[in-house]
Amino acid sequence: MPRVLTGIQSTGTPHLGNILGAIQPAIAMSNKAENDAFLFIADLHSLTTIKDAEVRKKNILSVAATWLAFGFDTEKNTLYRQSDIADVCELTWYLNCFTPFPMLANAHSFKDKSERLSDVNAGLFTYPVLMASDILLYDATVVPVGKDQQQHLEMTRDIARGFNHMYGDTFVIPEMKIQEEVMIVPGTDGQKMSKSYGNTINIFLQEKELLAVVKSIKTDSKPLEEPKDPDNCNVFNLIKLVAEPAQLSEIREKYLSGGFGYGHAKQALFEILVEKFKNERNIYSYLLAHPQEVDERLKIGSVKAKKVAKKVLERVKEKIGF
Ligand code: ADP
Ligand code: TRP
Repeated sequence: MPRVLTGIQSTGTPHLGNILGAIQPAIAMSNKAENDAFLFIADLHSLTTIKDAEVRKKNILSVAATWLAFGFDTEKNTLYRQSDIADVCELTWYLNCFTPFPMLANAHSFKDKSERLSDVNAGLFTYPVLMASDILLYDATVVPVGKDQQQHLEMTRDIARGFNHMYGDTFVIPEMKIQEEVMIVPGTDGQKMSKSYGNTINIFLQEKELLAVVKSIKTDSKPLEEPKDPDNCNVFNLIKLVAEPAQLSEIREKYLSGGFGYGHAKQALFEILVEKFKNERNIYSYLLAHPQEVDERLKIGSVKAKKVAKKVLERVKEKIGF
């Protein structure tokens, strides 16, 4: 059975772009009977940039709660916290000793981060080795990632091939699955929604706050009575992604015939979001109020993941003579 494995960064509450563009498609894939999905929260990687313990805990909780709220099936699949399986740190050390220095020095993401960040620590430098360990420790066969992670995946494959060449078959060489045509969800300013642009929609906000965010979506200043072009409207472009087909054509008609202002459109989007994500919003707020339940679900995942990790690590240690 293909083992599909991927790591998610824990850098705050996932926004509508993350949900529609990454979380829902990943859940659909994990639900397929033929896939055994391993999904983990990359909290060890987050230490390269986030030093505040409370922030880290909060981020882990909100990311895990989002995946659970959207129905990630933890019975069929495996959801765990990277740091719960310390074997990954041990494997990272071994792999460090098989990773050529220039390979890491040439990593785009390291170059980029070392120019941008004031804290350029060794963890940032060896980030790709920890990532290789994440993948190789679980005999992953397929790793779905965004294009920005392609080079990291190539390094993982190189490190594994080098090791296998020296010691005989030890690691499964993972295939990468680059998501090419991902959907792009626009933010409140019409650009790609991203936490780096401060234009995100957090669908888990309380209704009043969510309405305020929806109201902040940029539009032109056409008066209410004038007909409007739905396809050039940031509000409509979001409605398109979340409305049911019948609802969508009704709203399109209203744009075209006039007498329908942007305030009405925003109210409609707000109502669609609240209705569409009613269940998820309820589960999310329940889980946030009951963090121990999230913890229990993650622990169950860790037990499953640990079993696989233990075997692979034994295999590696035997080969290298420990
Ligand atoms: P951000 O841009 O907010 O920092 P990340 O880079 O952490 O988001 O992205 C996490 C996942 O969500 C990735 O798989 C990415 O492709 C997806 N994603 C992020 N923003 C969007 C968006 N606006 N539309 C669709 N998918 C998105
Ligand atoms: N580096 C990945 C990112 O920034 C997250 C990640 C960590 C990951 N370990 C992984 C992704 C292993 C896939 C497989 O998105």
